[in-house]
Amino acid sequence: MHYDLILRNGTIVTPKESFKADIAVKNGKIVQTGSLENSCTADDVYDAAGMYILPGIIDAHVHFRDPGLTEKEDFETGSIAAAFGGITTLADMPNTAPVTSTALRFNEKAGIAKEKSCVDFALFALLPNESAEIEALKKAGALGFKVFLGTSTGDIAPPSQHVLFEQMKACAEAGVRVGFHAETSALNSYFTSQCMKKTGSPGLLLSEARPVFSEALAIQTAICYAQYSGAKIHIHHVTSLDGVRLIDEAKQKGISVTAETCPHYLLLNAEKYAHKVYPPIRGEEHRKALWKAVNDGVIDMIASDHAPHTKQEKELPVWEAPAGLCGTETFVPLMLNEVNMGRLSLNDFVRLASETPAKIWGIYPKKGNLLSGADADLTVVDMNKKEKIDKEKLHSKSKTSPYDGMKVQGKPITTIVRGKFIIRDGRFTENKGFGSLVSPEP
Ligand code: DOR
Ligand code: ZN
Repeated sequence: MHYDLILRNGTIVTPKESFKADIAVKNGKIVQTGSLENSCTADDVYDAAGMYILPGIIDAHVHFRDPGLTEKEDFETGSIAAAFGGITTLADMPNTAPVTSTALRFNEKAGIAKEKSCVDFALFALLPNESAEIEALKKAGALGFKVFLGTSTGDIAPPSQHVLFEQMKACAEAGVRVGFHAETSALNSYFTSQCMKKTGSPGLLLSEARPVFSEALAIQTAICYAQYSGAKIHIHHVTSLDGVRLIDEAKQKGISVTAETCPHYLLLNAEKYAHKVYPPIRGEEHRKALWKAVNDGVIDMIASDHAPHTKQEKELPVWEAPAGLCGTETFVPLMLNEVNMGRLSLNDFVRLASETPAKIWGIYPKKGNLLSGADADLTVVDMNKKEKIDKEKLHSKSKTSPYDGMKVQGKPITTIVRGKFIIRDGRFTENKGFGSLVSPEP
């Protein structure tokens, strides 16, 4: 047999097992995984000896700021950063300018991303106020709908209660999942004004300004809406033990709720760090509880919540600076380092960052696995490579990182999207615009 591409001698990693195998690719799809006869040929053969081949890692939560806020990031720089970080598919959030809340704006954004993104992309829409728009956005290919119960970059106000309920019923009917930024705006305003008058550890003050109470109330609210509207929901960036408990209870009641956390909540704590992000980084007991929830399966997936701002903005005094951290390029290396430290297996990581996000957002089995017929999206990693994270060397427009100076072991070295090398052995192949829109399968 003759193929377009063969990866030889790598170790394939699935959520269940790891084994030595070759992968054959034709027309952008995986056609065979296993031991290939020596007589098989290909236009290109990649020697993956000593490397692990993961199903393409999905970063299902990024803010690429395009259109409208492109001084912070755009689809070109954001997707290059993602590709260097081993990401083959990303999912962009709707708090751009304009906000992605109509099919027209969705299509405009998809057009921009199509021109600039080197990796595949999916787009979230803001939950619109008109029910007709839900159908239109679904038809346009929206990955899911986002609700901000707590305001953040873009100052999007939470929807009124009856609109949220009616629109979630429409989402239930359309079969599209609704993702929540779970914080409670009014509580955040009150506690932030209190904290601004106080002194103390800046990390702990940031957490007190948008307290666990604010997150817990919002998660409970979202779950209640899910229960009575019948919509499937997702809780983005869970930060706390209290949040985990509510999600666990809801799952046990049979409510369709999935949950995500991010590397910064797993790796940083408020006692030691003062990186400003919404919802905030919490104290050590919450960080430990999140790890337990990841290992127990209460938290289903991990994503970066890459939310860049300019260096000047991030250097403003803490109460004036915008919230959000860069993370798409460091997501995989940081988690591989955790694998090397024994906190999770590589198989678990593949489940949390490829298979499950693909399933939650309805793009499985096209994405999220290495079976024949799937898109040939592959993240090749070297588990031995050691590196010191250097913010100046990252590819985002924003040269900021909470992990600057951190030493990690484990690095994505090659990123393949639909059979095309986007990063080959650490080098960008100049495939701007190769990415295409990924939409849920009917
Ligand atoms: O800190 C944050 N920044 N949290 C969010 O939810 C939004 C994000 C952003 O867009 O800057
Ligand atoms: Zn976000």
